[in-house]
Amino acid sequence: MNALAHPRVSFNQVGKRFSVADGELEAIRDFNLQIADGEFVAIVGASGCGKSTLLRLLVGLDAEYQGQILIDGQPVHGIGSERGIVFQEHRLFPWLTVAENIDLGLVNEGLERTRRGRRVADFISLVGLEDFAQAYPHQLSGGMAQRVAIARGLVASPRILLLDEPFGALDALTRQQMQDELLAIRERARITTLLVTHDVEEAIFLADRVVVLEPRPGRIKRIVEVDLPHPRQRASLAFHRLRETLLHELTHDERYLPPAVEQIRDLPLTYLAC
Ligand SMILES: Nc1ncnc2c1ncn2[C@@H]1O[C@H](COP(=O)(O)OP(=O)(O)OP(=O)(O)O)[C@@H](O)[C@H]1O
Ligand SMILES: [Mg+2]
Repeated sequence: MNALAHPRVSFNQVGKRFSVADGELEAIRDFNLQIADGEFVAIVGASGCGKSTLLRLLVGLDAEYQGQILIDGQPVHGIGSERGIVFQEHRLFPWLTVAENIDLGLVNEGLERTRRGRRVADFISLVGLEDFAQAYPHQLSGGMAQRVAIARGLVASPRILLLDEPFGALDALTRQQMQDELLAIRERARITTLLVTHDVEEAIFLADRVVVLEPRPGRIKRIVEVDLPHPRQRASLAFHRLRETLLHELTHDERYLPPAVEQIRDLPLTYLAC
C-alpha cells in the first residue's frame, strides 16, 4: 500500500501572508506536501524562506493562512498534545527549574504525580542533564537550555514532532549525539517528524526526504529522497553525492549566499574596525 495514500500530515496549497508596515509580505506560496505516518522529512532553505512559519502553522499557533493543513485527514484546530514542537530558540520559563520546564510538556496528559515525576526524570537523563534538574535556565549554557527544550518537546510522546533548528546551539559532538538519540527515539516510537535545519549533512543523516525551499515567497524547489540504510555513513560516497546535490540546489540561489567578498572589501575600513 502506498504510505502516502493516507498521510499523517497534508499541506494542500498552503499560502501565508503577513501584514507589514508597507503592505503585505508573502511568506509561503502554493506549498504542497504529504508526510506519511512515521516518516522523517527535513526542510532546508535560505534564512527567511518560511520554514518556521510552516511549523507554526502545523502546530496550530497561527490559524490565518490559505489552503488546508490536515492531520489524519482532519483540519488543524489550535495546538494539541499529539504535536510536540521544539522552537528555534529554547523558550524556557526563567522562573521554573529544568524539571519544571520539562514537566510543562505533560500539563494536559492527566498523569498521576509519581508517574509524571518518573517520566520527567527519564527525559532529563535522555538529554544528559541529571545534575541540573533543579537548575534555572540562566544557570545553563545555550546548548543545555536547548536540550531541555528538546526534552520538553518529547516528554508527552507526541505522534508528530516538529523541530526548528533544534541542534543549532550545540557543539559538533553533542549535536551528533543528539542526532543519534533522535534516531533511536524514532526507531522505538515511529514518530512522524518534520525537522527544519540549515545543516544539509544533518538533513541527510536523519531524514527520509529533504525538501528544499526557495525563498520569497517560500515554495518547494525540489524534494530529494534519501534512500540510504541507517546508520548512515557520513563518509560514504552515496552520502557525499546527496550532499553535493542539495548544496547545489541551495547555493545556485544567489539569495542563499553571503555578500560577495568584493562587497566586503569595498566597505570603508571604519565600518569594520572597532
Ligand atoms: N509575525 C510576522 N510578521 C511579519 N512578517 C513575518 C512574521 N513572521 C515571519 N515573517 C516573515 O516571513 C518570512 C519567513 O519567516 P520565517 O521565520 O518563517 O523564516 P525562516 O525560514 O524560519 O528563517 P530562518 O532560517 O532565519 O529562521 C520572513 O520574511 C519574515 O520576515
Ligand atoms: Mg526560522
